[in-house]
Order: sequence, then structure tokens, then C-alpha cells
Amino acid sequence: MTYFIIFTLAFLLLSTDVNFGQKTVPEDGDGRYDVIEKIIKKICKKKIKVGTLKQKLEEQIPTARTIGFTAEASAMNLHYLDENQTIKFDRVVSNIGNAYHPHTGIFGVPNSGVFVFSVTATSSLNKEVTLQLMVDGRPIFNINLDSRDKRWNNSATKTYVLQLSAGSDVWVAMSDWHGNDDIHGNMLTSFTGFLLQST
Ligand SMILES: *[C@@H]1O[C@H](CO)[C@@H](O)[C@H](O)[C@H]1NC(C)=O
Ligand SMILES: *[C@@H]1O[C@H](CO)[C@@H](O)[C@H](O)[C@H]1NC(C)=O
Repeated sequence: MTYFIIFTLAFLLLSTDVNFGQKTVPEDGDGRYDVIEKIIKKICKKKIKVGTLKQKLEEQIPTARTIGFTAEASAMNLHYLDENQTIKFDRVVSNIGNAYHPHTGIFGVPNSGVFVFSVTATSSLNKEVTLQLMVDGRPIFNINLDSRDKRWNNSATKTYVLQLSAGSDVWVAMSDWHGNDDIHGNMLTSFTGFLLQST
């Protein structure tokens, strides 16, 4: 940035209508000081403009914001969930930037960028469940867990990196092909997302 300012000032100096040529610099000492004073005044004037230019440029650069959340399903079991039903992760562990809305279960993309999302699902005993990560109603990935013939609960996590536009909505839903199977909550089913880089 320092070099940029020096370069800009040098450029402004060279392009200014006051130059160091023989004709404009008077021979006497006092006259020379007048010229130098004029140049300094011009630089000072232009410097303000450089500042404005710098501000304008900085407005174009995406601001470094911190966006990230983790939320868990607190209920022991989430019963009778419907096809496509949004999972509301009600226990908010963190919500930096407040882009995750626990009452709807939706993460609203605040600015365009590269985001990372991670979903952990845990099945209830003797149940099968498939969760989907949704972006604007479009399924991005599935997690399928089948505990029907097992004596224990299963857990799985998937993590994806996605490039998203401001205004998109991201949520976790029951799949469109599995109906009322339960999910085991108890903080073992969770949703995490964060902004990696603004674009
Ligand atoms: C497994 O799931 C069932 C049903 O949700 C639950 O009652 C049980 O506590 C779970 N077991 C473990 C070890 O979390
Ligand atoms: C669930 O979503 C799928 C795909 O969009 C759709 O075909 C289906 O009708 C939906 N089911 C319900 C119950 O809304």
C-alpha cells in the first residue's frame, strides 16, 4: 500500500501542470520556494483524492466477515417426521454473524462466497433415516443410516465445500423418499456451516 501511495504521488507530481522545466522555475531563491509551496499544496489536494480513491477501492473488496454456526437437535428422538421436512436444530452452540435461524432451521447465505457445511446424523434404534442437505430446495447430498437390523445407533457425518450466492437458503431435511422414520437427537444429530472465503 505504501508503494502504491508513493507511486501515485509520483505520478500526480509528474502529471501536475507545475513542472521543473527552465521556463516555470524562476531564477531567484524566493520564486523557487513559491513553486515548491505550490507543488506541496497540489500534492496535499491530490492526497485527499488518493484517500477517496483508496476508500472507493476498499469498498469493492469483500469485507472479511466471520460467519459460522453449529446447532444440534436436543430432543431425545425426533418422531413422525414427514418427507422433505426441515430439521430444526434448536440447540445453538455458536452462531457468529447470526445467519443460522433456529426457529426455521435455515441458514441464510449473507454474502457470496465459499462455504463449508457439515451434517452429522444419528439413527434411532430399529429405524432407518436419510437426511439431505438442501440449497434453495435442491438436494446436495444424502446421509443414509440404517439401524433396523442392529442393536446400536449409527452415526455418520458428511462435509461439503460449496460456492454459494448471497440470498441462498441452506437447510437439512428428511429425504423425499423416506417417510416417518425417527432421528436420534440428544445432541448427536447436528448441522455446522461456515464461510471459508468471500468472493
Ligand atoms: C439409541 O437410540 C435410542 C432411540 O433414539 C435411544 O433411546 C438410545 O439412548 C440411543 N443409544 C445411545 C447409546 O445413544
Ligand atoms: C418432496 O420433494 C420431492 C422433490 O421435490 C417432491 O417430488 C415430493 O412431492 C415432496 N413430497 C412432499 C410430501 O411434499
